[in-house]
Amino acid sequence: MAAPAPDIGSRSHAQSLDAADPLAPYREQFVHADEGLIYLLGNSLGRLPVASAKRVEQAVGAEWGERLIRGWNDGWLAAPGRIGDKLGALIGAGPGQVVVDDSTTVNLYKAMMAALALRPERTRIITDALNFPSDLYLLEGCVRTLGDRHEIVRLPSADGVTVDLQTLLAAIDERTALVTLSQVVFRSGFLHDAETITRRAREAGALTLWDMSHSVGVVPAALDDWGVDFAVGCTYKYLNGGPGSPAFLYVNAALPAETRSPVWGWFGHREPFRFDLDYRPSEGIDRFRAGSPAVLSLLALEPSVEMILEAGVEAIREKSLALTGCLIDLYDAKLAGAGYQLATPREPHRRGSQISLRHPEAFRIRRAVAEHHQLLIDFREPDTLRLGLAPLYTRFAEVWDAVEALVEVVASEAYLRYSGDRNGLT
Ligand SMILES: Cc1ncc(COP(=O)(O)O)c(C=O)c1O
Repeated sequence: MAAPAPDIGSRSHAQSLDAADPLAPYREQFVHADEGLIYLLGNSLGRLPVASAKRVEQAVGAEWGERLIRGWNDGWLAAPGRIGDKLGALIGAGPGQVVVDDSTTVNLYKAMMAALALRPERTRIITDALNFPSDLYLLEGCVRTLGDRHEIVRLPSADGVTVDLQTLLAAIDERTALVTLSQVVFRSGFLHDAETITRRAREAGALTLWDMSHSVGVVPAALDDWGVDFAVGCTYKYLNGGPGSPAFLYVNAALPAETRSPVWGWFGHREPFRFDLDYRPSEGIDRFRAGSPAVLSLLALEPSVEMILEAGVEAIREKSLALTGCLIDLYDAKLAGAGYQLATPREPHRRGSQISLRHPEAFRIRRAVAEHHQLLIDFREPDTLRLGLAPLYTRFAEVWDAVEALVEVVASEAYLRYSGDRNGLT
């Protein structure tokens, strides 16, 4: 007799997925100060890896404390490039093209200004209305700085979730200087087809800048093979670098030698410790460095990048799709009936590692599940809940528990006990 089909809506089914999960042992490599907490915010601030805590302790005590200024020659100076190369292996970037330094916002600025300077005769910048606000503000600022010569084409989204690929491709032409998009959209988790868009941009002679903040470490990429020009991304999300950890910047080595950062700091100089009065940029990716790196944060990031390399981005992606797929199944079985609306594409190749749900009471629901069920998720105005599923430490059973919590606070009307006043809360 055939075995009965598993009940995908049951907790025991979720537990059986955990039991069969080859990445499950990685959970132990993270600090779980509160085992009862369901943390679905790895898309915002990743959990603390045990090895990072130890590394910081060593960096503070044995390096800063004992070695003092000698630490720069012992490895601090090289850290942005060394960790950049390791991170590069996660995104298909060969050595010498990635540096980990400064914030994503600052790196976006450097890349935008560098790109626009390489295409002085072109006047259009293509982006979309789902891009992260910092990215859009920076574009406005760059255009202003460059004398208002450029037009920013912000392609709309019909559904607030996706942007039509054909519309995007059609917008790229010989007037386009730069195409800049978030590979995974922060609000909806929509995954752009970066390879196809990059190919079209190259055919049109335009440059590309991808913001990989929500994809690095969870979505495989092949930046060198695709011919991407620039990429940036946060390291405190799925890379678990800790609050405010420095971002990465990828600059394709095939770009011309005159590709320049707009921030001519001493760390970008060919020989910073000669203290020359005139600027001579470093030849490699170091010319995109500006000033002293945030060493402690860099060192905190390194063990996590190594852990992700060891686990493998392909395996992480496989589990990520299984987790988000599980949540979509549970959405169909339970959440849709409770008034939630799925705001992430269903097709695996069109989504990253988060699921977004809309609900008119999203703000109060977020507060209610935190108080009543120890479930941490986030809220984006006006009505969106985001559930980030970090594959190295999120269990299928937690996804199941999160869905139960979301259903329960609506069914019991527990959310009505909370104010809808925003009061400056994130
Ligand atoms: C897609 C995206 N781009 C840029 C940023 C800005 O990063 P930072 O604050 O490190 O500059 C964020 C922050 O969450 C983001 O999600």
